Amino acid sequence: MSVRSTPTPRRIKRKDSNSNDQIPQVDLIIIHANELVTMDTAHGVPRVGLEMKDLAIIPDGAVAISRGSIIFVGTTKELYANFPPSEESVIINATNRLVTPGFVDPHTHIIFDGYRENELEMKLAGKSYIEILESGGGILKTVKATRKAPLARLIKNGKTILNRMMKYGTTTIETKSGYGLDIENEIKSLLAIKELNLEHPIDIISTFLGAHAVPPEFEGKTDEYVELVISEMIPRIAKEELAEFCDVFCEKGIFSIEQTKNILSTAIKHGMKPQIHIDEIVDTNGALLAAELNAVQVGHMLKSNDKGLNALQKSKTIATLLPGTPFCLMLKDYAPARKMIKMGIPIALAIDLNPNCWTESMQMIITLACYHMKLSPAEALTAATINAACAIERQEEIGSLEVGKKADIVVFDVPNHNFLPYQFGVNLVSKVIKNGKVVVDID
Ligand code: NIG
Ligand code: FE
Repeated sequence: MSVRSTPTPRRIKRKDSNSNDQIPQVDLIIIHANELVTMDTAHGVPRVGLEMKDLAIIPDGAVAISRGSIIFVGTTKELYANFPPSEESVIINATNRLVTPGFVDPHTHIIFDGYRENELEMKLAGKSYIEILESGGGILKTVKATRKAPLARLIKNGKTILNRMMKYGTTTIETKSGYGLDIENEIKSLLAIKELNLEHPIDIISTFLGAHAVPPEFEGKTDEYVELVISEMIPRIAKEELAEFCDVFCEKGIFSIEQTKNILSTAIKHGMKPQIHIDEIVDTNGALLAAELNAVQVGHMLKSNDKGLNALQKSKTIATLLPGTPFCLMLKDYAPARKMIKMGIPIALAIDLNPNCWTESMQMIITLACYHMKLSPAEALTAATINAACAIERQEEIGSLEVGKKADIVVFDVPNHNFLPYQFGVNLVSKVIKNGKVVVDID
């Protein structure tokens, strides 16, 4: 049985502290949303099981924003009674439209140079992901180009990706190093993340993924490379405070369970939080390890076994499912999302953008989650917002529309959330609001 507590969806109209004295200045209001998906939930708890279908929708919904934060969520009528806009307030009329929390993307790899479009032909000819990697392509091809790229180029590439993500409704992401694979280039990648976080409206959570592959100069000497990660990279990156999380590609032929355990226990000792790529191609008992290490989140899980799932069920780890990857690898197996939901394991969705699986669109991932993993549109939206915020431990600030949270909001030019996977392959966004400001205005 799951040990998680069950949140009762609440509808917060107005914070008590606002009710007496001064009404704060209303900078922006959204009114008349056909569906205002609030995802209102008990703070700090991901939605599991049947709760994933409950979006806490307010018809004719309205939101008021002051200084980047949400100060009111309710109906349009209630908004006008409590927070009448002033002449300076921006007013967004969302009649016939869907309004949701900004997408949170908890697993991406946006720091790289070079392309791998040539690998599609190889995949079509039947080459596997590992075969392409072993022949010097895949991650290793990207490492070559990323090592050569100056910091400014990585920042420029990252900015192009972030701009597109924002246009598609994403307001916070996690992203990783992992195409440097030596101290200098891993640090360069993490510095690119730091700079992008400062420059770009999207908030970025940084992860060190030095153990993404064994670099060519360590071929056949994986243990020696692990030693470098443990004794030099992690201490230096922790000291320079360049990463909040540490990740490992734990997979047959890449890093073993034992090596992953060593890397992540060292990272934990240095104050980083653990997350892992597990059971993507082969079941290596990754889910069991994730539960043992109390990983905040784990990615992929295409092949995770029942023992691992049972262990995860009792843990607090979020299963971040990445359906873009099996899609791009042309696999027939996707992560067993229905089984996980039935077991009460909290699931999040992420795009896993990388040179093998390149999309900036969480809308596309929601479509894949519904058509290939049989999530309902509501479950997929929950996984891409509040549960995704839990996967990066930002559930107190983002992921739902609640008083006190950041005003990160998307207005879609469709009448309800069922359209998100249904009308696919196009951008349904009309407006994106980040920290209370309109950053995308498509119409
Ligand atoms: O999550 N599988 C490991 N890492 C990435 C892919 C990286 C790459 O192919 O460049 C992933 O899918
Ligand atoms: Fe990944």
